[in-house]
Amino acid sequence: MPESYQAPIGTRDVLPPESARWQALVATFAGLTGRAGYGLLQGPVFEDLGVFQKVGGSTDVVRKEMYDFEDKAGRHLALRPEGTAGAVRAFVQHRPTTPWKVWYAAPNFRYERPQAGRYRQHHQLGVEALGTDDPDLDVEVISIAADLYAAVGLRGVELALNSLGDVTCRPGYRVALVRHLSARAGDLCDEHRHRWEENPLRVLDCKRQTCVAATVDAPVMIGHLCDACGAAFERVQVGLRSLGIGFTIRTRLVRGLDYYRRTTFEFVATALEGAQDAVGGGGRYDGLAELLGGPPTPGIGFGVGIERMLLACDVEDAFPAPVVTVEAFVVDVTGGDAARDLTALLRRSGIAADRAFGGRSMKAQMKLADRSGAPVAILVGQAEEAAGTVTIRRMADGGGQAESAREDVVASVRLALADPAPR
Ligand code: HAM
Repeated sequence: MPESYQAPIGTRDVLPPESARWQALVATFAGLTGRAGYGLLQGPVFEDLGVFQKVGGSTDVVRKEMYDFEDKAGRHLALRPEGTAGAVRAFVQHRPTTPWKVWYAAPNFRYERPQAGRYRQHHQLGVEALGTDDPDLDVEVISIAADLYAAVGLRGVELALNSLGDVTCRPGYRVALVRHLSARAGDLCDEHRHRWEENPLRVLDCKRQTCVAATVDAPVMIGHLCDACGAAFERVQVGLRSLGIGFTIRTRLVRGLDYYRRTTFEFVATALEGAQDAVGGGGRYDGLAELLGGPPTPGIGFGVGIERMLLACDVEDAFPAPVVTVEAFVVDVTGGDAARDLTALLRRSGIAADRAFGGRSMKAQMKLADRSGAPVAILVGQAEEAAGTVTIRRMADGGGQAESAREDVVASVRLALADPAPR
């Protein structure tokens, strides 16, 4: 028995017709971002390991879950666990004019424990916008994500908002939080008991009951914002209200990556299970460009998990896979020359056309024509071949059929398509 293989654990094949849904989702996102002036960023799927270490050295995503490897020349590389670090690396490398607004649809790789809604290869639709700290940009970015959920018909999506402050006010807040946590370190969960000092804010994001209990009355960042951060946070809220985007402030929202400053947000789908219910998230990362060797450049973006979004759509019965059919099916029982040439002619004329292969019988080909969903079949038998004609059959019940000169086939098919089932 030859060896047989399965897709690696935590990865999935997306086949037709399900893949048509992905295509439609990406097209919807491309439309939304395009209308807001974002261009496509097509970047590498792997980067120098340092790009990710610089931006997430204290996070699980970078410390524990990265797919890193050495290439044949000994370079230490890693598959991207997320899209922001690579986008900012590209910004620093190419120095485009600002504001630089890009979108992407790309795979990410995290060595996580696979389960429903959590994969080792997942895909994100995202935007990154660099070059201004204007909080109206935060509103623009958040509204693109909100519009995406609305465009696919997802209803149960809630926006949680927080501000993580900046280099002016976060250090003071950190001191206050450390004071709070050091008195309760023994009560924290196993993971955080010994590691909390490294990144005390992460404890706030811990879902374990022990950490939740130890931090219920912990000081919150938005209580310590400096004037500039406070004003920016206020302006974001005003903007969201003005656009009719509902939100709740979640003071414990920290997010799983190190680079966030000021506005942070997460979209949660009520249709999904607890730990995997975030269908998108993002925030500001002013300071990240400097970390990667660039000039001081503020930035903000988000990533939306495609798989999770589609799972939520399944639960809500939203955004069904579009039915993709060809428009015409050529049935040729004269040996295949007509099928070969007519499908090419139709396709070049902009008509989606298919055919059967392998010299099948009339009956078998008609069955395939039926299954293809094409509203029109083009039949070529011996009689048509001799007369230089084709038969155009409307496939709907009682649709009828008509002869057409073979050289008029494109016009005849167009006519039949315009009125596929006469009443
Ligand atoms: P993130 O929160 O790590 O942020 O991921 C964004 C979204 O990707 C999540 O909300 C979730 O929908 C999806 N996701 C993440 N991990 C998995 C997984 N293992 N399986 C399935 N879906 C997953 C980021 O990655 C940031 N780069 C977002 C961002 C862009 N911030 C600023 N700009």
